[in-house]
Amino acid sequence: MDVLSAIEKRREITRFKPDPIPQEVLEQLVRSLYLAPSGNNLPSREFILVSEKATLRALTSTTPYMKWLDEAAGAVVIVANPRLSKYWLQDAAIAGGFLWLAAVSLGLGAAWGAVYHAEDEAESGRREDYVRNLLQIPASYRVVAIMGLGYPAAEPQPKEMYPLERVLHRESFRS
Ligand SMILES: Cc1cc2nc3c(=O)[nH]c(=O)nc-3n(C[C@H](O)[C@H](O)[C@H](O)COP(=O)(O)O)c2cc1C
Repeated sequence: MDVLSAIEKRREITRFKPDPIPQEVLEQLVRSLYLAPSGNNLPSREFILVSEKATLRALTSTTPYMKWLDEAAGAVVIVANPRLSKYWLQDAAIAGGFLWLAAVSLGLGAAWGAVYHAEDEAESGRREDYVRNLLQIPASYRVVAIMGLGYPAAEPQPKEMYPLERVLHRESFRS
C-alpha cells in the first residue's frame, strides 16, 4: 500500500482478532520505528516490543484509556531520553506516527495510548512509573506512549472530521 492510501485508511483500531503478528511483519514494523526521523538523527527514542499476554494485560492499567491492550496481539512502548536530545518528545511522536502508518500498510490496526502527560507532572509520574517498574525502564527515560497492534476485528465507524478550514491557513494565520 502506498503511503497516501495508508494515510487515508488509518484509524484508531481498538478491537483486535486473536491472530498473532508474524515475525516478518514485526520486523517491518521495527524498520518503520528505526527509520523514523529524529532531530540531529539522535537515538533519543527507544522502543520496547511486548507480545507476552500477561504483560499486555498488566499494561492496560497504565491509564483508564488503553483497555484495548488486553485484546492486542502486541504493543510497542515508546520511551525517550531527554538527556540525549531536546527533541525527545517530537522524535517519539513521529516514530509512533511511522509505526501507525506501517501497521496500516501491512493490514494491521493500531491504537495510541498516551502515557506522558504534559500538563500534570504528578499524573505523568504515576503513569510513567507504572510502566517503568513493569518493563525495567531507567528513571532517566520518559515513557511517551504505548501503541497496541493487531489484526482489526471490526471496521470503525466513518470518521467525522472538523472542516479543513478549522486547521488550515493559507499564507498567514488570519486567512
Ligand atoms: C497524542 C495522542 C494521544 C492519544 N491518546 C489516546 C489514549 O490514551 N487512548 C486511546 O484510546 N486513544 C488515544 N488516542 C487516539 C485518538 O483518540 C484518535 O487517534 C483520535 O480520536 C482520532 O481518531 P482516528 O485515529 O480514528 O482518526 C491518542 C491519539 C494521539 C495522537
